[in-house]
Amino acid sequence: MPSEPSVSDPAFWEERYRRDEAGWDIGEAAPPLANWLRGPDAPPPGQRVAVLGCGRGHEVVLFARAGHRVTGFDFAPSAIRQARERAAAAGVAAELEQADIFHLGPRWRGAFDLVVEHCCFCAIDPARRPEYVAAVSDLLAPGGRLVALFYAHDREGGPPFATSRQEIERLFGPRFLIERLEPAPDSIPRRASQELFALLRTAR
Ligand SMILES: C[S@@+](CC[C@H](N)C(=O)[O-])C[C@H]1O[C@@H](n2cnc3c(N)ncnc32)[C@H](O)[C@@H]1O
Repeated sequence: MPSEPSVSDPAFWEERYRRDEAGWDIGEAAPPLANWLRGPDAPPPGQRVAVLGCGRGHEVVLFARAGHRVTGFDFAPSAIRQARERAAAAGVAAELEQADIFHLGPRWRGAFDLVVEHCCFCAIDPARRPEYVAAVSDLLAPGGRLVALFYAHDREGGPPFATSRQEIERLFGPRFLIERLEPAPDSIPRRASQELFALLRTAR
């Protein structure tokens, strides 16, 4: 019997979209990110925004509606197709790129003011987390920021693979200034007390 593809292989995720087993999809943008955009600390419109592992595009539409220039990246073809459909239905312009975030190449280097993370970090092989930090750092222009919702649940294995405040500080600390890293008070009920809201600025 053929073995299941690893989480680093787009086929792993594509299969789940095809079978409509995208249990991570909460059917809307994550409330902590939506509330941040509505609040006093929201970035001014017009930011160049990248959404990593954008899935069906809820955060792509959220940030595009807030007046930002958004590019969503995902390596699963069905995710990109559905994100395009969602953006079109919402009447927003957004770029949707089918690509592996670990191989984005020079075209996107320093191209963004803001990178958005929701359930991508917890989806990658935990051994690749240092690569993820380097990828985010590469995408950001000097002074750019990562806004993230990190999944800090207490279960073994994954995906979703858990993280912790200590790990975020250890991984991102050398390259980023940690402006905020705190339990999100406004997670959906089934993720309550399991998400960390983070705002990290490149130290470059
Ligand atoms: C758990 S899902 C989350 C999707 C979306 N962010 C959400 O919250 O609904 C993880 C997504 O990341 C994508 N993904 C995982 N590894 C990736 C990689 N190396 N490059 C691009 N996309 C990746 C998967 O295809 C999948 O759509």
